[in-house]
Amino acid sequence: MATLELKALYKSYGSVAVIHGIDLAVPSGDFCVFVGPSGCGKSTLLRMIAGLEPISRGAVRIDGTVMNAIPAARRGLAMVFQSYALYPHMSVRKNLSFGLENVNMQRTEINSRVGEAARMLQIEELLNRKPGQLSGGQRQRVAIGRAVVREPKIFLFDEPLSNLDAELRVAMRREIADLHRRLGNTMVYVTHDQVEAMTMADRIAVLRAGK
Ligand SMILES: Nc1ncnc2c1ncn2[C@@H]1O[C@H](COP(=O)(O)OP(=O)(O)O)[C@@H](O)[C@H]1O
Ligand SMILES: [Mg+2]
Repeated sequence: MATLELKALYKSYGSVAVIHGIDLAVPSGDFCVFVGPSGCGKSTLLRMIAGLEPISRGAVRIDGTVMNAIPAARRGLAMVFQSYALYPHMSVRKNLSFGLENVNMQRTEINSRVGEAARMLQIEELLNRKPGQLSGGQRQRVAIGRAVVREPKIFLFDEPLSNLDAELRVAMRREIADLHRRLGNTMVYVTHDQVEAMTMADRIAVLRAGK
C-alpha cells in the first residue's frame, strides 16, 4: 500500500512540452484511471511515474519520498503494457519467475509467489507453454502475473486491454477490478476508453493535451 503524489510535474521533449504541470494525489489503495485521447500524454505521464522517462520539472513522490532520481527497478512499482512485453523464448513459468531470479530471491519464495499468482489468474495449466502458444487474453494475464509476483507497492497499467476483442475486454476489466479488491494495492490505470474509466475507477483524472 502506498500513496502517489505528482507535484507540478512537467515534461518536454526538446522544446516541445507534452506534460504541463500536473498536480495529483492518489491515496493508498485507490484505483485511479488516467483517461484521455490518443497523444494527450498518458503514457508519458505513467512512464515518468515508473522511472522510464526523465522528469523535466516537478516531483513524483511515493509514500512521501521524492522518486525523481530513483531508478525504475527501485521504485517498488510494476507496469503492465498494452503489448504484453513477454519474453517469447521463455515459458510462462520462466516469464513469471525471471525478474525474481534476477534479484536472487530464494527458490522456495519464487515458487510460492509464482504458484499463487498463477492460481489467482487461472493460468496454472499454461505454465509450461511459450507466449506464442497463448491467446491474447492469456498473454495479458501472464503479463499481469509478472507484475503480481513482484508484490509492488503500486501497479501501473498502460492500456492493457486495447489489443483484446470487445467481449474479452469486458471480462478482463472485471478480473483487474477483482485483483484490485483482493490485493488492495494502489493502482494507476491508463486508457482512452471512457467506459473503461467509468466502470473501473475510484478516481478519474482526465488528461487533455498534457493538462
Ligand atoms: N520520445 C518522444 N520524443 C518526442 N515526442 C514524444 C516522445 N514520446 C511521446 N512524444 C509525444 O508526446 C505526446 C504524448 O504522447 P503519449 O504520452 O504517448 O500519449 P498517449 O499515451 O496519451 O497516447 C505526443 O504528442 C507524442 O508525440
Ligand atoms: Mg499511450
